[in-house]
Amino acid sequence: MPGLIHHVERHRPIHDLLAGELDAVDRIFRRHVASDLPAVNDLCRHIAKYQGKMLRPTLTLLCGLGGRPEGAVLPQRLSEAHRVLAAVGEMIHMATLVHDDVLDESDLRRNAATVNHLRGNETAVLLGDYLISNAFHLCSTLGRPEINRRIGETTNELCAGELLQVHHRDDWSIDEATYFAIIERKTASLISLCCRLGAEQSEAESSVCDALGAYGRLLGVAFQIQDDLLDLVGEERVVGKSLGRDLEKGKLTLPMIHFFGSAGASSRSEMLECLAGVGGTGRPARIASLLVAGGAVRTARETAFSLVRQARAELSRIPDSPARRLLDDLACAVITREY
Ligand code: FPP
Ligand code: MG
Repeated sequence: MPGLIHHVERHRPIHDLLAGELDAVDRIFRRHVASDLPAVNDLCRHIAKYQGKMLRPTLTLLCGLGGRPEGAVLPQRLSEAHRVLAAVGEMIHMATLVHDDVLDESDLRRNAATVNHLRGNETAVLLGDYLISNAFHLCSTLGRPEINRRIGETTNELCAGELLQVHHRDDWSIDEATYFAIIERKTASLISLCCRLGAEQSEAESSVCDALGAYGRLLGVAFQIQDDLLDLVGEERVVGKSLGRDLEKGKLTLPMIHFFGSAGASSRSEMLECLAGVGGTGRPARIASLLVAGGAVRTARETAFSLVRQARAELSRIPDSPARRLLDDLACAVITREY
């Protein structure tokens, strides 16, 4: 089980139990997108390379386990429906990544070529459509239209977040409230739903479902702040995807918003000069050093840290269990990750 969950070594037994569950989720995913057309299967095989952290399925399963006090004796308590929901969450996420790489004109995702880079935008847009369509189709096999409806509400929210982001392209005076409105929608909405659906599938009490939904939303916002930090100050070799895309695409993220909110006149004009030079040769190194020197990286990290603290506080509203402790560890791993 690669990625984030590797940070969670303290609960090896749960980690091992969940690994089997995630393999089952992966099989559902692959079986459902399989086609009689080799051309489609080739693409589906390619995007399997993007399956890194499996954060969303992990959250669905852990919230399925943690939603109940007897979490310790699971995973027998996880049903096929939990696994289907976990696969649906991953499929939606995968569709958004494939489309996002078209919008960002990214070449690299999880150390593999993006679909747009490999096959062009037409194929990437259609593959994203194929995945989103499959996600709703797979969900419909549960025979519970209200889940399809709620997933539809979330994908609407997610698309609206992306539209708001595009609307603010090259807006150098974007404020924090707008930034949070964007990332809550584009990232946190799906993560929150993945948590909530796992708990609801276990018939957890409504206060537990609410706590886990809130945990997911806070975690999702922190996750995106970390993602945005890595885009500005991370190393492409370590992160495994094209970096510096946010600035090239005119997206101002939290560190940059903090920078412009506090920088003196000279570093501000130096930054504007650097920004004018963005493109072609990649992210100028000076941008990262200005962000670090001005304290903007530290402030953004502190914001993410505070959100993780709030997410962990939500966990105190659910019964203690090994799954809850793993959810707690995951929250910490989201902001310490370097990829
Ligand atoms: C990551 O942004 C992008 C998202 C979390 C959402 C992308 C959503 C769409 C493109 C809309 C498509 C919607 C559907 C339902 C198919 P990022 O560029 O900050 O992340 P990155 O660093 O991983 O590229
Ligand atoms: Mg992107």
